[in-house]
Amino acid sequence: MNVTVNGRTRHYRTITFDSHTNQVMLIEQRLLPHTFKVIGTKDFRATAQAITDMVVRGAGAIGATAAYGLAQGALAFPGQEMKKFRKHIQGVYETLKEARPTAVDPVNAMNQVLRHMEQGENVGEQQALALAAAEEFANEDARHCEAIGKHGSKLIKNGSRVLTHCNAGWLAFVDIGTATAPMYAAQQEGRKFHVFCDETRPRCQGATLTAWELAQQKVSHQVIADNAAGFLFWRGEIDLAIVGSDRVLGRTGEVTNKIGTYTKAVLAKRHGVPFYVASPLSTIDWNLKSGRDIPIEERSESEVLGAWGIDATGKRQYVRVANQSSGARNPGFDVTPPDLITGIITPMGIFKPKDLWKNRHKLGGA
Ligand code: MRU
Repeated sequence: MNVTVNGRTRHYRTITFDSHTNQVMLIEQRLLPHTFKVIGTKDFRATAQAITDMVVRGAGAIGATAAYGLAQGALAFPGQEMKKFRKHIQGVYETLKEARPTAVDPVNAMNQVLRHMEQGENVGEQQALALAAAEEFANEDARHCEAIGKHGSKLIKNGSRVLTHCNAGWLAFVDIGTATAPMYAAQQEGRKFHVFCDETRPRCQGATLTAWELAQQKVSHQVIADNAAGFLFWRGEIDLAIVGSDRVLGRTGEVTNKIGTYTKAVLAKRHGVPFYVASPLSTIDWNLKSGRDIPIEERSESEVLGAWGIDATGKRQYVRVANQSSGARNPGFDVTPPDLITGIITPMGIFKPKDLWKNRHKLGGA
């Protein structure tokens, strides 16, 4: 998407690869919305650390980062011996996989890269194939988001008031985003609508990232406290909810997304408001049989007990909010059951969650 910084507008992808320096180039999302900066990770361990530390975050974005990280690790291998190379690749894969467990995109993306690499007969060929496959994953991610926009834009009418949660915008992908794709497409088609961004405590991806994106794209929006959505539903001020996903279970239609999504889905059902999940194919998990088997990341207590912002000098600061002696519980994601979801907006069209499995061949499932 286009970003305007200091009056200059340029198109950016969230993640790119610099093959001259073997670095994965990432927008430093922890500094947004205050500072726009692109950084490079110098090796695959630094790439994995950037995923863990949420320099880059969002399902598709960490998928593409893991794909590039695997290629980066492959390209850094110095020898020619295939046995040692395979062992090295396994280590790179495991390091990147463990960086964040809930989203399935990194695993799906790296498996795609590995499948391509297998076609190479020696180290050099496999290294080249790894990078080509990572580039293809990133390009496909952008194409999928564009297709989600085409299918989802009809849901947004002139005057619609749309609720979204967390950030499933272009920062969470390579470009365009998923939950935001129908919004950007509806905007291009000339419709006027308004977006409520849940602030999304504890990391505030809605208040910082989604609000920044929508402001950059000149989409009418307001940030609301997470607790305000129920009141707005009750007053009839929300017509539609669209959220992203970190893992959609193809077998059951359950959806894992940022903590608080389930609450919003319950509220939408209670008030008869359609609740949609936008998701690329790389977010579908065709293996797990129950939402209870999804590894839900438990994050640091400090995220709940305090908050990050900038001080008067523009320096990024953490401030303690909660009582000093109190601890916290911080599950990063929740699971929304299929009966609360009106439809899953995919690049192939909109599906009822329960219909994913019977459409698995169309949706890239085995
Ligand atoms: O913890 P994050 O910020 O990486 O969480 C991911 C999310 O932003 C959301 O859950 C999002 O809706 C799905 S990612 C497209």
